Amino acid sequence: MSSKKLAMYVCVAWMMAIIGSSFATTCPPDFGGRCVCGQANYNGKERYLVNCTNTHFNDAAMLEKLPIQTEVVIFTGNNVTSMPWNVFGKMNDYPYLEVIDMTNNNIQEIKGKTYHHVKNVKTLILNHNQLNITGDKTHPRIFSNFVNLESLHLTNAFSESVDSKEYLVALEQIFVGSNLTKLAKVHLEQNEIWSIKNPNIFCTLPSLMDIQLGDNNISDISFNVGCIHNLRFIDLRNNKIHSLSNNTLSKFEDLPNQGLGVKLDLMGNPFICDCQIADLLNWLRTTKVDVLEKESYTCYDGLPAANADELLYNVHQIQCAFAPKQEYQGTTVLLGILLFLMISLILIIGYMNFTSVRAGTVALWEKVVHRGQYTHILSKPEEQEVHV
Ligand SMILES: *[C@@H]1O[C@H](CO)[C@@H](O)[C@H](O)[C@H]1NC(C)=O
Ligand SMILES: *[C@@H]1O[C@H](CO)[C@@H](O)[C@H](O)[C@H]1NC(C)=O
Ligand SMILES: *[C@@H]1O[C@H](CO)[C@@H](O)[C@H](O)[C@H]1NC(C)=O
Ligand SMILES: *[C@@H]1O[C@H](CO)[C@@H](O)[C@H](O)[C@H]1NC(C)=O
Ligand SMILES: *[C@@H]1O[C@H](CO)[C@@H](O)[C@H](O)[C@H]1NC(C)=O
Ligand SMILES: *[C@@H]1O[C@H](CO)[C@@H](O)[C@H](O)[C@H]1NC(C)=O
Repeated sequence: MSSKKLAMYVCVAWMMAIIGSSFATTCPPDFGGRCVCGQANYNGKERYLVNCTNTHFNDAAMLEKLPIQTEVVIFTGNNVTSMPWNVFGKMNDYPYLEVIDMTNNNIQEIKGKTYHHVKNVKTLILNHNQLNITGDKTHPRIFSNFVNLESLHLTNAFSESVDSKEYLVALEQIFVGSNLTKLAKVHLEQNEIWSIKNPNIFCTLPSLMDIQLGDNNISDISFNVGCIHNLRFIDLRNNKIHSLSNNTLSKFEDLPNQGLGVKLDLMGNPFICDCQIADLLNWLRTTKVDVLEKESYTCYDGLPAANADELLYNVHQIQCAFAPKQEYQGTTVLLGILLFLMISLILIIGYMNFTSVRAGTVALWEKVVHRGQYTHILSKPEEQEVHV
């Protein structure tokens, strides 16, 4: 390459840069002058940003005209109940698009064909929406074009009128159907989750590291963790955990190195410091899992009552309200009840039949002793039964 040619290339590139920057703050006409497009600081980096914040759009049609060089699109504070097919248009690829933030748009439905041309997106934020992904609104391949997605934000994303158990099942179908092989972080805070009935919900995300479940109403770690081979962090802050059983805690032993290097955050849970918490106390002192700030966890209540507001680590005496609910005792109690019921049943049947049995025996005896007196034998039990 001659130096003349090189100079020309440099010159052209420089001119294009100038032209580019002179258009930088102007969005395409479809954006109605409500958004800001151009280089801006996003999370500490200069990025080409399209920023439509509190723009009160009632549809997302303008996003079809998104500038090709866009790296971050912020579309929040609008009212788009149903996301259309091909929200970023059918034509263009967006090779630089890395972040899509669609927080707070009153989104109720995302179609299976909404997100195309998103193959380089690493972060998708759908916080504070009214998503309904259950029933005929389940589109398992909804995120299937996000082949490089690393971080999925679904904080307070779901409609409160759909039971969390149902949408978590639908979410598992989405995880399976969308093949999110690179997804490392899932945010599910503030979703009124009480319990997770599908224990393998996170097992189909091979790169998963962080599970954010803070500010829910969860009382147990009911999902599998042993299947999450890259697990790094489980956030369960501010939930409704009273205590955790050996059964739950032993799951961490299935992790590589028994959970060494895994962080667990249980801050702000209402621990009940009665005898049920013995396993958790024991585990906290011995586990390899890094339980964040465990020295400052406090008892919300307890037995003896003096345990309330005490630090978990300072609790030395714990009592049981009733018999401790240990498993083998449960079985013993159950067996006892069954035995009692059986004996009672035998006694009742025995009593009900006693008269006729006795009559029968007597009759048999009489039959043996006084052969031939059949009328007497047959009439006697009937007479007696009438009087019972
Ligand atoms: C986007 O715009 C809103 C208001 O117009 C502003 O408050 C916010 O800081 C902008 N975001 C970024 C990342 O520049
Ligand atoms: C949002 O849009 C829906 C229809 O798409 C409409 O019924 C509702 O009133 C709108 N809400 C606001 C706050 O504008
Ligand atoms: C969610 O979608 C399902 C299926 O379309 C529907 O039956 C249910 O009523 C919806 N729930 C809400 C709260 O919109
Ligand atoms: C899932 O994605 C991986 C790599 O991203 C690919 O190799 C694999 O074939 C995909 N599986 C399915 C079922 O699409
Ligand atoms: C879940 O817990 C929060 C905080 O403790 C509480 O305000 C909320 O009412 C609970 N959710 C439901 C659905 O009861
Ligand atoms: C839980 O495990 C610990 C340590 O292995 C053991 O001492 C304790 O008895 C177990 N608790 C129950 C209820 O089985």
